[in-house]
Order: sequence, then C-alpha cells, then structure tokens
Amino acid sequence: MRRIVVTGATGTVGGAAMRLLAAAGGGAEVLGAARSDRAAEALRAQGHRSVRLDYDAPQTLRPALEGADAVFLVTGYSVDMLVHSKRLLDAARAAGVRHVVHLGALAADDTPHAHFAWHQLVERAIEAMGFGWTHLRPNFFMDTVWSGFRHRPDRLVHFVGDRRVSWIAADDIAAVAAAALSDPAAHAGRVYPLASEVLAFDEVAAVLERVTGRPVSYRPRPAADLLPLLLKQGMEPNYAGGLAEGVAAIERGDLPLVDAAYDTVEAVTGRAATTWEAFARSRLHELPAG
Ligand SMILES: NC(=O)c1ccc[n+]([C@@H]2O[C@H](COP(=O)([O-])OP(=O)(O)OC[C@H]3O[C@@H](n4cnc5c(N)ncnc54)[C@H](OP(=O)(O)O)[C@@H]3O)[C@@H](O)[C@H]2O)c1
Repeated sequence: MRRIVVTGATGTVGGAAMRLLAAAGGGAEVLGAARSDRAAEALRAQGHRSVRLDYDAPQTLRPALEGADAVFLVTGYSVDMLVHSKRLLDAARAAGVRHVVHLGALAADDTPHAHFAWHQLVERAIEAMGFGWTHLRPNFFMDTVWSGFRHRPDRLVHFVGDRRVSWIAADDIAAVAAAALSDPAAHAGRVYPLASEVLAFDEVAAVLERVTGRPVSYRPRPAADLLPLLLKQGMEPNYAGGLAEGVAAIERGDLPLVDAAYDTVEAVTGRAATTWEAFARSRLHELPAG
C-alpha cells in the first residue's frame, strides 16, 4: 500500500489535505505529522492516523518517513522554514521517499523578498536532491483573512492600500496537493501557481457584506505599520521583516504577479476554483450571531 506523509497536518493547508486525502480513499495510507501528543490526539479525533514528527527534534524525522512514498512538505511562518525543510528533505532521502510536494508561495523567480526567496531555495534543493517533485505556489490565502474577519465581522484591515491581489482557498491548494500526492507520476516536474480570483480588499469587503447581510468596511493601514504589529503578535523577526517588505512592495505597486490569476485548480481537479463568495457562504456558520 502506498504511504503518504502530510506535514503541517494540524495547520490550514495540511489539515485540508488530510481531509481530502481521507475522503478520497484511494487505497493509500495517509499519516498526518504531529509534533505533540495534543496534535496526535487532535488528528485522531478527526479520524486520521498520525505519526510523530517534530522539525525541531531531527531524530523524529527519519522514523516518521520510513516507508513513505510521497511527502507533503509544509512549513510555518518563520525563518526556521529553511532548516526545517533541509532536515525533512535529508530524512526523506535517507528513508527512500520518492516524491515531494512542496507548499511554497507565488513570486517572480528573481524576487528579492525573503520569504519568497527562501521558498525558492527549498524548491531548488528538492530538485537537486533527486526527488520527483511538484511545487505549489499559492498567493493570498482567503482563509488567513477569514480567520481575522470571523472574530470581527464588520471590518477588514490590511496594509496593501487599494491594490488588487489574487486569492486562493486552502481547500483548493489542498485539492491540488492531494492530486499530486495521490498520483505523483501525473504531476512530476510541475510548478503549480495557485491564485484564482483577483480582488482588492474593498471588493472583498463588498462580497462579505453581500454574503453576511451586515455592513463590512475595509480599513487600509499604511504598510509601514505592519512590521511592529507582526512583532507584537510574536512573529519571528526575520520572517516578519521579509513579509513586511513584501507587503510594502505591493502597496507601492512593485510586486510582480501579485494580481496574477491562473486556471490551475480547474486544470488539475476538473472543478472550478472557489470564489470569495462561495468561500464566505460555506463558512457563514462560523460567525458570531448578530
Ligand atoms: N497565508 C498566506 O496567505 C500564504 C500565502 C502563500 C504562501 N503561504 C505559505 O503557507 C505556509 C503555511 O501554511 P499554513 O497557513 O497551512 O500553516 P499553518 O496553518 O500556520 O500551519 C503550520 C503547520 O506547521 C506545523 N509546525 C510548525 N512547527 C513545527 C515543527 N517544529 N515540527 C513539526 N511541525 C511544525 C504546525 O504544527 P502545530 O499545529 O503543532 O503548531 C502546523 O501544522 C508557509 O510556508 C507560507 O509561506 C501562505
């Protein structure tokens, strides 16, 4: 039986990939990475199998990957993504993993901004190490904005001014990941940009207003305000700095591909990509009553 290991299985995209792979059946054994007993319990409660895998405990990596055919490589919002990816890839090679699907980010190949650049270095490492590979490059996640909005459903706050950006739902990223993990040969050597709908934040606010039936306003803040806020929220400083630089570049109209859209979801999955409208409708139940 094929075995698939999903890292980041307790997170937004990895969690969605676990649900889709489980729902698809398909005869593969799917293991979700858990770095703590709590994470393992959370996965079990959703009916998933888990395996102990902690990027900060390198001795856990090879045993977790033993017998795996394909791995979904997901890292978090920290410069540690570099060393975490390196450790995971070394262990995957030692364990005989053949295919790596990597969750990266959408940017021009010559981008100077740190978090995009780091993802590109991870892609080059995956290729150089001899794995079969599929590179996912999503742009703005709808889910990230929604997770703030659901607690304050009268406003959107962001730092890109009135620029239009392209959006993707985590479920759509996960659907493409699941396709590649389930049938690596069909998706080997493919770069998948993932960005399906182009909307400025005031346009997203208008969609949310229509769907929720309540007033929703967009409150732009200067990009220069972002870094102190991220640091206050506890984001690791190197990652926060790169993110804030990238957002400042969007605000001044200097980030190529930020408003690019692609038909990847439809081409890979055979169904239309999720729109902001459909995304919000499917999550209306998450909003506080009022
Ligand atoms: N948000 C966006 O708009 C956007 C756009 C483009 C690309 N991206 C990329 O998306 C990626 C993040 O995806 P996401 O939002 O799904 O992430 P997420 O929800 O923050 O989840 C991160 C996952 O990584 C796990 N993790 C963290 N540290 C770990 C460790 N030491 N060992 C093992 N697992 C660990 C977490 O486990 P725990 O649950 O135990 O913490 C969690 O499952 C980033 O690479 C980012 O660059 C994001």
